[in-house]
Amino acid sequence: MNYERAFEDAVRRVKAEGRYRVFADLLRRKGEFPVARWRSEDGKVRDVTVWCSNDYLGMGQLPCVVESMKKAIDDVGSGAGGTRNISGTTHYHVELERSLADLHQKDAALLFTSGYIANEATLATLGKILPGLIMFSDELNHASMIEGVKGARCEKRIWRHNDIAHLEELLAAAPPDAPKVIAFESVYSMDGDIGPLEAVCDLAEKYGALTYLDEVHAVGLYGLRGAGIAEREGLMDRIDIVEGTLGKAFGVMGGYIAADGAIVDAIRSLAPGFIFTTALPPALAAGARASVEYLKAGHHLREQHQERAATLKAKLSDAGYPVMPSMTHIVPVKVGDPVLCKRMSDMLLEDHGIYVQPINYPTVPRGTERLRLTPTPLHSDEMFDQLIAALDDVWERACEQTGVARA
Ligand SMILES: Cc1ncc(COP(=O)(O)O)c(C=O)c1O
Repeated sequence: MNYERAFEDAVRRVKAEGRYRVFADLLRRKGEFPVARWRSEDGKVRDVTVWCSNDYLGMGQLPCVVESMKKAIDDVGSGAGGTRNISGTTHYHVELERSLADLHQKDAALLFTSGYIANEATLATLGKILPGLIMFSDELNHASMIEGVKGARCEKRIWRHNDIAHLEELLAAAPPDAPKVIAFESVYSMDGDIGPLEAVCDLAEKYGALTYLDEVHAVGLYGLRGAGIAEREGLMDRIDIVEGTLGKAFGVMGGYIAADGAIVDAIRSLAPGFIFTTALPPALAAGARASVEYLKAGHHLREQHQERAATLKAKLSDAGYPVMPSMTHIVPVKVGDPVLCKRMSDMLLEDHGIYVQPINYPTVPRGTERLRLTPTPLHSDEMFDQLIAALDDVWERACEQTGVARA
């Protein structure tokens, strides 16, 4: 076996499909986000405006978050020093879990090292705990949920995205006494649409299923205290397991679930992805708690965020750009071709200091490649105008250079 060739061929195939990923080398400027310093391949450094961060509210630079992290480092040092079971549970972790349980009005919460691991570990472990489980998973669920469902090694049914009639058809066809979990998201992060929470809860009740809701792109952002779409829609008590991240709107890192005490205790006791890994550093737990607590009260930021997203959508549409029909803070602009999308993203960065990552297959279906914009409360009207002027400049030129017709 020519191993080197195999790896090179794998990358060649990715490149041929126009989905080879190049990471932008960035340093944010604390206090000036969304401005960051970008280091290009020739080593030059220049300021750019970040348009694709999932630090949706700029919490990653909020003084109370940053100071909490510094204070925790000064207090206890850097790492946790072990798994949660073996000396890695600090009072910072305990307090953060309490804060998250309170946010979601649940008995308990459980921290994981990321939202990805929270999904993967929890869903896989449900398969161990519930013999004969059938998992009902929305077809557009995030990769971490797909891996969790696979890891559950149970029967699965994939329901068409947000298609409640299809979900009911599948539930009705399943044995009535089989344990069932319906796994879905509130905000789908690429299109910015929202899952039919209430209708799913109704079906779960009718067919005796547990509900598992990923609120990764909604926590901090929706509801009066930032618990997500379930809070906004008054459905928190009907969601059995809610999963979230501390790495997006909360601006730090880590993931969690919140649920009834018995559920959390069982996952805590049985999920390898929780048990066999070093706990989050205490400083992350401290920063995340500061952020969660700030956002429980900081509704003004959520209002500003929604206003910014609505204004940007309107401005782009008025300027003739194909904004996809998002119901949320996510502003996807359809490009429709991977090579064109990458070219536009490169030109925006190099010629205009505008950083927006191209979103190509397999993250989104082929033909729906897009620029996914995430305006924060810190993106000004002036920045909006700069973005539109830059798009005006690059779109036609990128079409000419790539030979791709404008969608
Ligand atoms: C829907 C969804 N769930 C889970 C995750 C994973 O969260 P984290 O970035 O904290 O690992 C993501 C990340 O993008 C996501 O989009």
